[in-house]
Amino acid sequence: MSCGAGVAASAPIRDVRSFDEGNARMITCDSLVYLPFQPTGGALACDGVSIQSIVEHAGTPTYIYSARAIRESYRAIDEAFAAYRHAIHYALKANSTLAILRLLRSLGSRADANSGGEIRVARLAGFAPDEIVFTGVGKTREELEYAIGSEVGTINAESAGELDRIAAIAGAQGRTARVAVRVNPDIDAQSHPGISTGLKTNKFGVPLQEARGIYRARRETKGLRFVGVHIHIGSQITTLDPLTRAARSLVSLALELRDDGFQLEHLDLGGGLGIAYEAQPIINPADYAAAVIPELGRSGVPVVLEPGRAVVGYSGALVARVVDTKCFPDGRKFAVLDAGMGELIRPALYGSYHRIVPVTPRSGAEIAWDIVGPICESSDVFARDRALPPLEVDDLVAILDAGAYGSVMGSNYNRHLLPAEVMVDDGAWSVIRRRQTLEDVLALES
Ligand code: LLP
Repeated sequence: MSCGAGVAASAPIRDVRSFDEGNARMITCDSLVYLPFQPTGGALACDGVSIQSIVEHAGTPTYIYSARAIRESYRAIDEAFAAYRHAIHYALKANSTLAILRLLRSLGSRADANSGGEIRVARLAGFAPDEIVFTGVGKTREELEYAIGSEVGTINAESAGELDRIAAIAGAQGRTARVAVRVNPDIDAQSHPGISTGLKTNKFGVPLQEARGIYRARRETKGLRFVGVHIHIGSQITTLDPLTRAARSLVSLALELRDDGFQLEHLDLGGGLGIAYEAQPIINPADYAAAVIPELGRSGVPVVLEPGRAVVGYSGALVARVVDTKCFPDGRKFAVLDAGMGELIRPALYGSYHRIVPVTPRSGAEIAWDIVGPICESSDVFARDRALPPLEVDDLVAILDAGAYGSVMGSNYNRHLLPAEVMVDDGAWSVIRRRQTLEDVLALES
């Protein structure tokens, strides 16, 4: 049955972005972004490879990634900073599937790991220990022992207490840990409150005004070598001002520390660059670089960047199948997918917007759909009142811009199994993570 096909759309259809049809680039604000998922011959394709043909083999739900999109996004950031000594430490938390990490490593990326697990995965993907920065609130003793024992490049310490624990562990191991302190500048990133990290009400870092004292008090501490300063004020940031102010704060601290005799090797600006989920203006990497390089230049110290979303966000889509359609008497129409908040939790958790497109659009007037998942929670909703063509059971839909914080945040809630992941590269595709089985899950249980 087609649910309400032919009924006039109750929600407006918006497409304020303009596309350069030839090469599928989106021009948003002043930035030029490569978008891999485009219609080809009436059906959606990833870099020209038919989505339908991929899921005939791989099944649904499946994450599909474009290697080209990752390459282009990485290079855009790298080239933007070409004029200043820099290192890109891709933030694994955005997506740490091994094949994606190997691809980024081949492009020259280094790694930002947020847990002992992410350090191990980075090592498995081939990153050398000195190419890894270890960040994150609440590092356990075991994680610190592992990171110090592996001689990771830098540990970004979150508190004075953590620095002292690092010193003790390093001393016991007969090593010297390379450390930076993460500062909290009390700057509003103007992003979603759940992913803003630079306010004094957030748990992250040490207050900026206390940082200098923390460095000074430990300058001679055995087991510690202060090599940098670190800041990260939030994620999905779409205005330059907070990022520029954060950079200015960090550089001012670095200059004070230089006066105190510290020889810093890098200033770590963290990640945070947003992507255009909803046609909103975003920050072009070149504009970001143009804004912060003059600040950095006051110190002359090389910069470390930790982008996650801006590298992989556009590269991935979650492809799902419609398993039911429902029309309620008040006119509300639901399309129920075989993927839900267990596969992609961002809409349920933050109210995030993701573009949704049918893989093979049916003809007929667009209507307003609630696109929902199969999980027993009313929050298991991908979109409300989304104008889409008629949908029928067994149709495929793609939830776009899901390369970052999609698969990595998956869960087995309702005993759903983690989806497969596929990478498209140069006209061919391969499974980079097989679909989880119930046996995989039950292997942990007695
Ligand atoms: N560095 C640090 C210390 C971070 O905490 C993060 C992200 C990054 C770098 C990378 O930030 P990005 O460039 O990706 O904005 N799950 C949320 C996002 C959480 C971000 C956490 N930290 C979401 O789905 O939007």
